[in-house]
Amino acid sequence: MTYANPDAPRRKVTVRTLHAMKQAAEPIAMLTAYDASFARVEDQAGVDVVLVGDSLGMVIQGHATTVPVSVDDIVYHCAAVSRGLDHALLLADMPFLSYRNEEQAVLNAGRMLQQGGAQMVKLEGGVAQIGVVEALVGQGIPVCAHLGLKPQSINKLGAYLVQGRDSEAADQMLREARQLEGAGADLLLLECVPAILAAEITKAVAIPVIGIGAGVKCDGQVLVLQDVLGITPGKPPKFSRNFMLGADSIAAAITAYVQAVKLRQFPKPEHQFE
Ligand code: KIV
Repeated sequence: MTYANPDAPRRKVTVRTLHAMKQAAEPIAMLTAYDASFARVEDQAGVDVVLVGDSLGMVIQGHATTVPVSVDDIVYHCAAVSRGLDHALLLADMPFLSYRNEEQAVLNAGRMLQQGGAQMVKLEGGVAQIGVVEALVGQGIPVCAHLGLKPQSINKLGAYLVQGRDSEAADQMLREARQLEGAGADLLLLECVPAILAAEITKAVAIPVIGIGAGVKCDGQVLVLQDVLGITPGKPPKFSRNFMLGADSIAAAITAYVQAVKLRQFPKPEHQFE
């Protein structure tokens, strides 16, 4: 396995960098951020992709779900985060109902790139979003597709549960991953998916696959910053780890997260699902 020379000057991470990392089997470290200060710490700690997630509805705004988040919210937080980044790629989450059709998706994603400084957008969806993914890619907007648990559908799901456990659902997820890749998605995120299925999908597609609660065999990992810092109220999610334990600063905790992802020491079996 050949990793990039750690002494070489770090360059700006682009879509091409992420594809090259998959080719080189170098794990991709992704983490959420919502402001310039934390973005700067993450950038200096070696985070490859900083996600302005709609999780901001819960961890910043204090809502019970991500549903109330608006496009204005994401643009505002992206603009702040982008000012803290020199190297990491900035990924913007498209909030609930902001990609109902192709025209609306392109206009909203366009704002995230033009006003927010994002380099890629993420949307929750499968086969129903193929047209939207094609329209975005057709306008030069890179897309990260999000499969598995889709928190924006919480009112339909009723609970945040592991997805793809039965063979029909697993086959459908594998099919959708291939279709999204075919539609031009550059990245795929799998949330709360059995580790065996996530490994199969990671092998089946050429685009990098980032996991959260999807096992160590994905091409990279993502966590919510507040989980990494151990400040999420209540019981932490099974897939997360408090990296402040044993760290003497926030920067050290984030660096430990990046190192654990790069060395495939996180997630461990206790963080994954069967
Ligand atoms: O909104 C978010 O932070 C996310 C992560 C949980 C992957 O989508």
